[in-house]
Amino acid sequence: MKKSFNHDLSTSNTFRMNVSCACYIEYDSVEELADFFSSGRQFDLPRPFLHIGGGSNLLFTKDFPGTVFHSGIRFVSPLEGGGQADASGAGEVMVEVGAGTRWDDFCGWCAERGLWGPENLSGIPGETGAAAVQNIGAYGTEFKDVVRKIRCFDVVTCSVKTFSRDECRYGYRDSIFKQAAKGRYIVTSAVFALSSGAGPQLGYGHVKDAVEKALSENRQESPTPELVRSVILGIRNSKLPDPAEMGNAGSFFKNPVVPKVFYDKVEHYAKSKYGQDYEVPHFDAGSGFIKIPAAWLIEQCGWKGYTEGNVGVYAKQPLVLVNRTGAATPDEIIALEKKISDSVMNLFGIGLNPEVEHI
Ligand code: EPU
Repeated sequence: MKKSFNHDLSTSNTFRMNVSCACYIEYDSVEELADFFSSGRQFDLPRPFLHIGGGSNLLFTKDFPGTVFHSGIRFVSPLEGGGQADASGAGEVMVEVGAGTRWDDFCGWCAERGLWGPENLSGIPGETGAAAVQNIGAYGTEFKDVVRKIRCFDVVTCSVKTFSRDECRYGYRDSIFKQAAKGRYIVTSAVFALSSGAGPQLGYGHVKDAVEKALSENRQESPTPELVRSVILGIRNSKLPDPAEMGNAGSFFKNPVVPKVFYDKVEHYAKSKYGQDYEVPHFDAGSGFIKIPAAWLIEQCGWKGYTEGNVGVYAKQPLVLVNRTGAATPDEIIALEKKISDSVMNLFGIGLNPEVEHI
């Protein structure tokens, strides 16, 4: 276990906020965690405690006064005897992945072996443990669709606990680890069900067209996980800024899910502005609720490509706020966040909630 004090966090968050924490701990195994928490050494450390992954979905709003934990548990291992034949007769493979493993390394591992499962989630920054907490999602697939079990360390009882997928109570960018169980469990690994025969999920937006184009370019008959992965990486690269080049934390806001009456007002606004044939992008969220892309609402308020000081709104995807110059402060980001959400509230009467966790 590595421990350091007054630790610089600027390379531990993809927004590149120049902040530090009072104490930083990196551990490499469940045994190290168990030894640490059962010895009582945690009572000597600055509080509060915060567990981070790749720091790709958080905004440090100031120096963190407590202790930051980070997992160095990195492995990808197929489980013996965990599989069964799926509907196509092809094998299902159960694979366990350490929480500190880069999420996209796991996606690449699956694609290289011709295993279907997380290919639509390729290229999402961050680590597997955080993906399990956040229920990451993209292009029609969510983490919950691929995972079967989450293994955790319980800091209260100092024991290990395995959660079934149902017990994790996954929702849109949500899980029990962000709600009732917050702070109690440290995710140490996740078990996934992969398949050699499942085939691609092509229902989202233009993914099907992009896959068909790639098939014809490669003179390939049917898609492989590797091909779908490369198509998804291509779509992401064309729409989202690479955090290694420009600080950002992906989608800054969640897509609002509103009662239909709110959507009707948005539709009325759009049709009066752009004509009766105009279709507002939206998805039926069930029970009389509609999900509207926050990107569309933000674009309507004129923010696309906006810049101010060191911060800005990404021109190709206005849901992403960027640290344009690398020198942005948390206050600059927060001021821009407020201006954007105030303008969406003023124009549409819809409140935007941040997806990025503010620390
Ligand atoms: N749109 C606009 N203007 C734009 C961009 C998008 O109006 O400039 C509208 C379009 O109608 C488009 C719709 O928004 O069809 C959806 O856009 P997109 O497919 O880019 O997805 P999103 O809803 O904006 C979500 C996730 C992303 C994920 C994409 C792809 C959230 C908060 N974000 O964005 O996740 O990559 O879908 O599946 O759910 C992240 O969580 O950090 C993230 C990047």
